[in-house]
Amino acid sequence: MRFSKRAAVAAAGIAVALAASACGSGSGSGGKSSKDVEVFTWWADGGEKAGLDGLVAQFKTDCSQYNFVNGAVAGGAGSNAKQVLASRLQQGQPPDTFQAHAGAELTDYINAGQIEDLSSEYKQWGLDSAFPKGLIDNLTVNGKIYSVPSNIHRANVLWSNKTVLANAGITAPATTLPEFFTQLDTLKAKGVQTPLAVGKDWTQEMLFEAVLISDLGADKFTGLWNGKTSWTGSDVTQAINDYKKLLGYSNKDRDTFDWTDAEKLVMDGKAAYQLMGDWEAADLDTKGFKDYGYSVFPGNDKAYQWLADSFVLPKGAKNAEGTKCWLKTLGSAAGQKAFNTKKGSIPARTDANSADYPAYQQAAMADWKVDTPVPSCPHGSACSQGWQGAVASAQGKFSSDGDVEALQKALAAAAQQYAKK
Ligand code: GAL
Repeated sequence: MRFSKRAAVAAAGIAVALAASACGSGSGSGGKSSKDVEVFTWWADGGEKAGLDGLVAQFKTDCSQYNFVNGAVAGGAGSNAKQVLASRLQQGQPPDTFQAHAGAELTDYINAGQIEDLSSEYKQWGLDSAFPKGLIDNLTVNGKIYSVPSNIHRANVLWSNKTVLANAGITAPATTLPEFFTQLDTLKAKGVQTPLAVGKDWTQEMLFEAVLISDLGADKFTGLWNGKTSWTGSDVTQAINDYKKLLGYSNKDRDTFDWTDAEKLVMDGKAAYQLMGDWEAADLDTKGFKDYGYSVFPGNDKAYQWLADSFVLPKGAKNAEGTKCWLKTLGSAAGQKAFNTKKGSIPARTDANSADYPAYQQAAMADWKVDTPVPSCPHGSACSQGWQGAVASAQGKFSSDGDVEALQKALAAAAQQYAKK
């Protein structure tokens, strides 16, 4: 049910989309070989592709009897990939494995009966004790575990161009929202074109969630997704007003931008700041841009807004044994290291050695141990795909009309419709 709306949206472009998804190679003549393992992600470029490549190298070592086939569909946060995937699942043409976020988003696939129980593989591969219990709970429904997590990302990170800040006399990133507004005013007064770079709907949703965390605090923010906090409260109205003010410092063409386009404004020195998940660390590194700073979003203090990518065994996958080899590799200590050192995320496994990681991930690993975890809706840990879609379209509308009351109403209606379903 939940997928039917998305599938309808995707229907018009399905032929093109299916062709786009089959961008991999491995079976030589274009036909499918029984050794192929088609891995479906949205990690097509930059740091995301670098992470995938790291994992593929490990797969080639551990699973040399199989061929990796790249089924990536480009577009940040799966903005295109998820529609293509929904159509393929509906048509009974699943890839051998696909990327799904831990939490409510994964539960969608479980409830739709589209993925297999991996509990016995968990035991066989010793994964029961490899991941933190809280994460395993997010992968489990009715006592069965359905996916293997590859990583933990942090969403609420503020990235900056150090030179742009320094030229405006800003020596340290802001730590509170009022301080942030003051800095944005300073940047504007100094002639910085775009003090805060923003992209389209789901990236706007991320910025808005960061503001909600600042204005409501970690616990009340989490309550928005489990029914304990009302979406109609004055604190949410305040957050929408603060968010609206922030949009005033952003690029007007934001609705046409993916996250990498907004990131480019920062790299080019046209923007000072961007709120984005820590895949940006890997992407900036891959693009050779060194002049960047990072800090938690102003006012988020010790809230660690987490999300985890995980991989599944779809029902009807053509090469279930090959998929199991992929899953075993990505759950292993070597697989997690090969992937996460390049992806900007931290390993989901608890036995990693932080010294093996770049500086950003070392800091993130330390924070993850002590901070308060809060979930993310656009990245599936907080809400289902139907809820994600409703919020994204409300954000898109708000980006052009700025109607505070209408946004709050739409968010409250989405919660009413999708919470706990
Ligand atoms: C997230 C995903 C990350 C990263 C990001 C940007 O949803 O979990 O791994 O790929 O989208 O595309």
